[in-house]
Amino acid sequence: MSLALGAPAGKFTCASCHAVEARTEPKTAMGIGIELPADQEILKAHPKLSYTANGYSYVIERHGGVSTYTVSGPGGAVSVPIRYAFGVRMQTYVLETGGKFYESLVSYYPPIGGLAITMGSERIQPKTPLEALGRPVGMEEVEACFGCHSTGAVAGGKLDLSAMRPGLECEHCHEGAAAHEAAMNGGPAAAMPKKLGELKAEDMSEFCGQCHRTWATVLRMRVFGPLNVRFQPYRLANSKCFLGDDKRIACTACHDPHEDPVRETAAYDSKCLACHGTAGTRFRKCPVGTRDCASCHMPKVELPGGHVKFTDHMIRVVRAGEGYPF
Ligand code: HEC
Ligand code: HEC
Ligand code: HEC
Ligand code: HEC
Ligand code: HEC
Ligand code: HEC
Ligand code: HEC
Repeated sequence: MSLALGAPAGKFTCASCHAVEARTEPKTAMGIGIELPADQEILKAHPKLSYTANGYSYVIERHGGVSTYTVSGPGGAVSVPIRYAFGVRMQTYVLETGGKFYESLVSYYPPIGGLAITMGSERIQPKTPLEALGRPVGMEEVEACFGCHSTGAVAGGKLDLSAMRPGLECEHCHEGAAAHEAAMNGGPAAAMPKKLGELKAEDMSEFCGQCHRTWATVLRMRVFGPLNVRFQPYRLANSKCFLGDDKRIACTACHDPHEDPVRETAAYDSKCLACHGTAGTRFRKCPVGTRDCASCHMPKVELPGGHVKFTDHMIRVVRAGEGYPF
């Protein structure tokens, strides 16, 4: 941490004092969350996308800095500008027309470099262009979408998209950061934001699980089978490695929330060995491998109909033909 000495009074921002986090976090998937028209990198790179399903044809075409989502088929055609592109890799569009919100029936999937049916909407059989446009999303769900993917959209229990800022800003995770910033600029004294780094593994899973879904949420939603591989806090809790009061198995032992996840498997070895490499302890050693632990013990699972893979956080010995546990 370095104080930007010499900055004019009242002008200290998070970046003046927490330079590293302030530089990296806004560029992460969580920091981006939603792409607005001017920043829709995927749609800029793909100025025309098309797809056909259920007798309807889908075209997403970019003109004058805006991509338009058009559905045509039995009953006519509907066109809606894409204002909210959710996600930075896989992408689903939240569309607004006639005062109502829809989750686009087709999404962009990186492995195919194009469109396919949105996960979860496979069984919808549209009979009108509006039904083919997307799944209608009620107000409560729209608020939840923006609540997890952006900052400032919901105030006083009401959705206000004019105040929405894409992605997770510092305050979203660090409650009290704005008051702390004001205090640092000579405003009224405020408590320091809570030291999140002190959370036990179980509490960190609850914290990240507000959005990544906890064990309790998954049971309540009754999402069983490979679909729940997306919900890392739930999967991790099912692992024998999960010692709830041990920080070595907290989400933040392996991930810095201010940076995108490291993609090299070997980089995680030291995290496993923090427990399993300690000689003379209760933690057992591997009789098979000495590196790339996660490649065998945290397999990648493809979501049904999803064209995308997630890493199974239920760390375990994977036996051939065992199927997907839970
Ligand atoms: C409870 C919080 C929560 C809600 C509500 C939510 N999301 Fe997400 N979303 C996440 C998290 C966490 C991820 C990252 C992990 C994953 O991909 O499952 C994610 C990932 C995504 C991705 C993939 C992003 C990528 O880069 O691969 C898309 C697309 C997406 N969400 C769209 C939506 C849409 C559309 C809605 C509303 C209909 C919605 N989400 C509601 C938390 C949420
Ligand atoms: C307020 C909601 C929220 C909270 C809290 C949250 N996340 Fe996320 N996270 C998301 C969303 C939404 C995405 C997907 C963003 C996208 O792709 O556009 C995401 C994506 C990620 C990714 C990137 C996935 C990828 O494939 O690149 C990682 C890693 C991650 N989160 C880890 C964490 C950890 C660790 C915590 C707890 C310290 C946490 N998140 C807390 C909402 C949240
Ligand atoms: C003028 C400098 C200054 C500014 C501006 C500032 N902070 Fe801080 N912040 C500090 C100092 C000093 C601490 C105490 C560090 C310690 O106890 O080790 C701190 C502590 C924190 C902590 C707790 C860290 C921990 O140890 O877990 C968080 C989180 C934090 N700041 C976030 C922010 C955010 C977000 C902003 C912008 C909204 C911000 N700060 C603005 C100086 C600043
Ligand atoms: C997705 C949630 C999330 C977001 C968004 C987020 N942080 Fe953090 N931050 C955390 C967590 C969790 C920790 C504790 C990390 C750990 O234990 O390694 C943390 C720790 C910190 C610390 C203490 C660092 C340390 O080494 O003790 C600072 C300072 C900080 N964050 C600043 C920021 C700033 C500035 C932003 C906005 C640019 C930001 N954070 C955005 C979750 C978040
Ligand atoms: C022991 C280490 C470890 C712990 C603890 C851990 N992860 Fe991961 N995580 C990984 C590895 C390894 C990957 C895959 C990296 C790669 O190959 O791209 C990963 C990937 C992810 C991704 C990217 C999407 C995916 O499935 O590939 C998200 C999001 C994520 N972790 C969230 C979390 C959250 C939330 C927690 C806490 C509940 C957590 N992780 C705890 C090791 C860990
Ligand atoms: C907090 C310490 C901790 C960390 C970190 C940890 N483990 Fe474990 N692991 C345990 C405990 C405790 C058990 C239960 C058996 C034992 O004592 O060895 C276990 C069991 C296992 C098992 C046997 C599970 C079974 O189904 O019988 C495997 C395989 C394993 N760990 C691999 C890993 C890998 C790979 C990583 C890193 C991605 C990792 N562990 C990280 C504590 C940990
Ligand atoms: C090539 C795949 C592979 C790699 C790489 C690998 N393992 Fe294993 N591991 C296995 C298999 C298979 C078993 C089950 C062996 C048996 O039961 O005979 C196992 C067993 C284990 C066990 C349980 C041991 C016991 O006594 O029950 C632990 C703990 C473990 N591995 C941790 C790790 C760690 C930590 C790493 C990285 C340093 C690692 N593994 C790398 C395949 C692998």
